[in-house]
Amino acid sequence: MPKQIVRDLDVKGKKVLVRVDFNVPQAKDGEIADDRRIRSALPTLNDVLDRGGSLILISHLGRPKGGDPEADAPFKLDKVAARLGELLGRPVVKADDTVGPSARKLASELQPGGVLVLENVRFNKGEKKGDPEFAKALASLGDAYVNDAFGTCHRDEASMVAVPEQFPADRRAIGFLVEKELNILDTLLKNPKHPYVAVMGGAKVSDKILVIESLLKQVDKLLIGGAMTYTFLKAQGVEIGKSRVELDKLDVARKLLDEAGDKIVLPVDHLIADKPEAGAQTRTTESTAIPEGWFGMDIGPRTIEQYAKIVREAGTVVWNGPMGMFEVEAFAAGTKAVAQALADGQGVTAVGGGESAEAVEKFGHADKVSHVSTGGGAFLESLEGKQFNSIKVIPDR
Ligand code: 3PG
Repeated sequence: MPKQIVRDLDVKGKKVLVRVDFNVPQAKDGEIADDRRIRSALPTLNDVLDRGGSLILISHLGRPKGGDPEADAPFKLDKVAARLGELLGRPVVKADDTVGPSARKLASELQPGGVLVLENVRFNKGEKKGDPEFAKALASLGDAYVNDAFGTCHRDEASMVAVPEQFPADRRAIGFLVEKELNILDTLLKNPKHPYVAVMGGAKVSDKILVIESLLKQVDKLLIGGAMTYTFLKAQGVEIGKSRVELDKLDVARKLLDEAGDKIVLPVDHLIADKPEAGAQTRTTESTAIPEGWFGMDIGPRTIEQYAKIVREAGTVVWNGPMGMFEVEAFAAGTKAVAQALADGQGVTAVGGGESAEAVEKFGHADKVSHVSTGGGAFLESLEGKQFNSIKVIPDR
């Protein structure tokens, strides 16, 4: 059943609390490295403003401990609020706290069209605990609640579950971003067009076991790349040189390979390097084996050709995790080629997870794929078929 959505709410003259996920990557100097999560919330925010409402925005940034102002300082939301103001093209005020005197004063003064960003919700210990008293204080600032924080939907924190519970059913909704993310996941989980292909990369098998197990029930092919390749190859007794490997996950990898039949596809060649960093000496292997002393850093040219063809010809593709260490140009060809193949494909193409999302953006293909998720953990857990409390708490239409 579709969920009640922001446009279903009567927002005229109302103060709408919107839980957004402005947990943006930060550069070393604290500047915003990528504002995609802020941009993705704009349709919901503009909808409320255009219909005469005002906004009180709740977000976390990073994983602050809360309670120590000095340690918390790098996680303050001032830069995020400033960037939001630029993107909305209107003034945005920022509170110095989340439910304290500053937030209460600014919320009470808010006029239609006004935008208030509360301080990082995780500065309050009650947030992680889902504390009902904290939730009541937060909810008392606004007249209605909207969840547009897809990236945080797998968390049961106060602002995701206990806060909406404070509002009557007709004043809770999801935003347009969460709607879009749920729609694509619905297609992937219930109605994928075949051939359905998953491309899984990244460093660790251990992070992906559950999602690989559930995907194997649905997909026609699951292509493996990234450092987890070497754990799968080692599990098959293939030489992997000095490549990164999870020795305690060899049994898991073997079990997945046994269960998968011929669905799991592993690289047939690799780009290898004498050290895992820029400036290394590199070459490609003849076969799946990696010579002694060398590191596997990316999928090789024959694998690239094979993977790109499978991806281009798929009815549905879901991609999570890079094929190699793509931040170093010499090891980026595999990830670049997969991103290009998704962009060239005619089917539904969904990209989830921080690094693969970053890769499609970096290589200029973000607008050529059907969907780039704003969720990392939330996207993977959704693919595993998990139902989130943060979504259950929003009534059906
Ligand atoms: C994310 O980046 O995955 C979300 O913002 C959730 O953050 P968290 O993993 O710190 O809960």
